[in-house]
Amino acid sequence: MGGRIRRVPWRTPRRPDGRAAAPPAGRPGPAPGPLRSGRAVEEEEVVVGQSVRKRGRKNRAELDIDIAADIAVIDARYAESRDGEPSDELVEAAFRLSLVEPRKNWANDATLAKVAYFHFAPDLEDALRNYDPHLVEISERFGYISWPRRIQEHVRGRKVLDVGCGFGGFGVGFLVAGAASYVGLDPSMDLDSTAAKDKRRRVWDDMGITPRQITETLPAIRLLQSSAEDGGLDETFDTIALHNVTEHLMDLEGSLASLTKLCHPETVVVLHHHNFYSWNGHHLPPVHAEQLDVDNERHQQVYDWRHINAAPDVPETHMFKRSLNRVRLDDFRAVVERHFDVVEWEETPSKDSSVARLTPEIVARVRATVPDITERELTINTVLVVARPQA
Ligand SMILES: C[S@@+](CC[C@H](N)C(=O)[O-])C[C@H]1O[C@@H](n2cnc3c(N)ncnc32)[C@H](O)[C@@H]1O
Repeated sequence: MGGRIRRVPWRTPRRPDGRAAAPPAGRPGPAPGPLRSGRAVEEEEVVVGQSVRKRGRKNRAELDIDIAADIAVIDARYAESRDGEPSDELVEAAFRLSLVEPRKNWANDATLAKVAYFHFAPDLEDALRNYDPHLVEISERFGYISWPRRIQEHVRGRKVLDVGCGFGGFGVGFLVAGAASYVGLDPSMDLDSTAAKDKRRRVWDDMGITPRQITETLPAIRLLQSSAEDGGLDETFDTIALHNVTEHLMDLEGSLASLTKLCHPETVVVLHHHNFYSWNGHHLPPVHAEQLDVDNERHQQVYDWRHINAAPDVPETHMFKRSLNRVRLDDFRAVVERHFDVVEWEETPSKDSSVARLTPEIVARVRATVPDITERELTINTVLVVARPQA
């Protein structure tokens, strides 16, 4: 092209995944596209087209400079999209980003997460309206993108309900993974607190924004202080996700039954369950064997499956009785199967260093409290369940 801009008909660029990346609506090209609103057709369409083709020939450093430039434009001016139509400059920058295949570790790098946000977005103008660079950065820093990334096949383009979502920080993580919309509910959510759990460092930190402010600012996210049973939701969802929640549901049967009302026939229910009977099923430090300090009094009460022996004797106010249902794996599966058809059941063992600590003496000691406990129950750390509503 030699730097010249020629008027050429729009040719639908291909996303790296082979899907057609339709041009902004209103421009020539097949509809429907990721952008809906009408917009005048300008020469920029050619520039976008050239840029797409050029990007294929660029080395990584050059591509990174292009990406940084587009992100800089959007990060400086994203607020324009809140109240009205985003400018052409914003739309073009978002469109170019949408064509970039995010590198693998997009859950662990804020820039890559921003690229992923636009790449996976079902609708770019909606994406601009719901974009907040600070929240993408916080979500990445606090480790709130890894779970949506792990279950992305059930997230992309879908209306997601996150039951037991915690303080609300997962919302933008789900949008980064391509959710069309997100509702998060949790009975313990303080709508007016900026405090959030940093999952990477396992400490509470200041997110700089409250769940109420997120809900008011981003139309694709709704955060509710509510429970699985009293959601007050009169709608259905494409995906219902519960991450490390099922072990906390004190009426597991009732909670799962109430979720069936929020399903349509194609809904997918995704449960990530943390097994109480695993090495760290106590939900307290030490999280894994490398953290174990046998001289630490708190560790002494729970390490090497001692929490299982201790649980029956703790006071009713202790978290083992107040907020952990201590359901056994097969009982958990049976409850799920009473309400849903289980499509996938994937058990993940604890870290090798924790599993290696299991000895016949420990099994015997635990069996003094739970006579029929199996080694499988003691070594499986988490279960990922994918289920569908019963026909
Ligand atoms: C370990 S936290 C997990 C939070 C979040 N999903 C995460 O992974 O960071 C368990 C959450 O389940 C919530 N929870 C407990 N009972 C619930 C219920 N009946 N309905 C919805 N959420 C519940 C708690 O308030 C708590 O925030």
